[in-house]
Amino acid sequence: MTDSAKTIPSSHFDVIIIGAGAAGLMCAATAGYRGRRVLVIDHANKPGKKILMSGGGRCNFTNLNSTPANFLSDNPHFCISALKRYTPQHFVELVDRHGVEYVEKAPGQLFCKDSAKDILNVLKTECDWAGAEIRMRTTVSAVAETDGGYRLSTSSGTLSCESLVIASGGLSIPTMGATGFGYRIAEQFGLRVLATRAGLVPFTLHPELKEQLSPLSGISCPVEASCNHQHFREPMLVTHRGLSGPSMLQISSFWQPGDELAINLLPAQNVFDDLIGLRRDKPRSTLANYLSQYLPKRFAQAYNDLQGWSGPLQGYKNSDLEQIADTLRHWTIKPAGTEGYRTAEVTLGGIDTRQLSSKTMATLERPNLYFIGEVLDVTGHLGGHNFQWAWASGVAAGNDV
Ligand code: FDA
Repeated sequence: MTDSAKTIPSSHFDVIIIGAGAAGLMCAATAGYRGRRVLVIDHANKPGKKILMSGGGRCNFTNLNSTPANFLSDNPHFCISALKRYTPQHFVELVDRHGVEYVEKAPGQLFCKDSAKDILNVLKTECDWAGAEIRMRTTVSAVAETDGGYRLSTSSGTLSCESLVIASGGLSIPTMGATGFGYRIAEQFGLRVLATRAGLVPFTLHPELKEQLSPLSGISCPVEASCNHQHFREPMLVTHRGLSGPSMLQISSFWQPGDELAINLLPAQNVFDDLIGLRRDKPRSTLANYLSQYLPKRFAQAYNDLQGWSGPLQGYKNSDLEQIADTLRHWTIKPAGTEGYRTAEVTLGGIDTRQLSSKTMATLERPNLYFIGEVLDVTGHLGGHNFQWAWASGVAAGNDV
């Protein structure tokens, strides 16, 4: 042991990262490989719990088509630099080096072939190889600035570091360990925190519509959902609580309480032309017959009944068919609300990124205080973009701490 090593107390680290999630572990490995003495602390009993539950247990760990346009932020240019320097291809190379097998489920969306555990194991192994220590079940009661860095009062004693990285995530899924810790630390150091709300979250419905749709629970159909000039053409799933599935989760990030959703049930069809043709060729066929060509039969019948359509097409005038086509293209729904943070995949809003370097994730006022991952006001669309942000922001900070 060298003299200098002898004098460094075991409670002092070059870098302490609070939060052993996707961003924190990525940052830890990156900094560790640079020779920094790194400690990751987390109050949960296990690291990476959200990684394990993500993508239905198979973790949609990146999206090959991820671009800054896939992110919502009050400061949309902030994410560009980090995403450009650590791309989906970089993460794919990492998982390839570890021999993880994966599949492209939808265009660009990469999921583990076996289990999300594979991604967590990659990160834990990388931390191990890089010499970064992970200490779980450790709560932080206070953070104070010192001459050369930060002092933390924790349940495993007082710790100190030169650089402090906050990677404690957002508010989604409190039962998985989510807290507002990162926002409180930001406020303690005078940073602005933008209003937060649940994103990528199922909608709840008012009792009448919920009851009408409840027999359809479990049925999924491809739709185009629109709200506030955003459109997502992906499946919608009716649940016993309301509406979910990729299209609903995506559009929820753009929805505000009181807004209406427009759902195009047949986005690939020219409905009016179809109905005119069908009336000419098969005048006795019904609207339910037409709908069931493109929608699950049970859904088609229930939707037909909901609209009160009956009788053969020969009984409908052109103007009726025009109105029906319009209804199918713009089924308008006013959700009661969302399921909130209890089931949301992400938290919109968070720490205002105008106060951080987009290159390093360090705060402009304190170049040794960093914020990464979901705690920041950067939120991805559904489909692997949120993990890509966690990796990219983690690497950006890890290269600077
Ligand atoms: P993350 O939440 O992962 O980690 C934060 C860590 O900080 C946690 O370990 C927590 O315990 C710890 N912490 C919090 N407060 C603390 C405190 N006070 N003291 C100490 N530690 C504290 N994204 C995607 O790209 N593809 C996908 O397939 C999915 N699927 C998915 C499913 C579900 C159900 C959810 C909830 C989310 C997803 N996501 C996703 C989103 C993705 O999980 C999310 O964006 C990242 O996990 C964010 O990474 P972070 O490291 O920023 O936070």
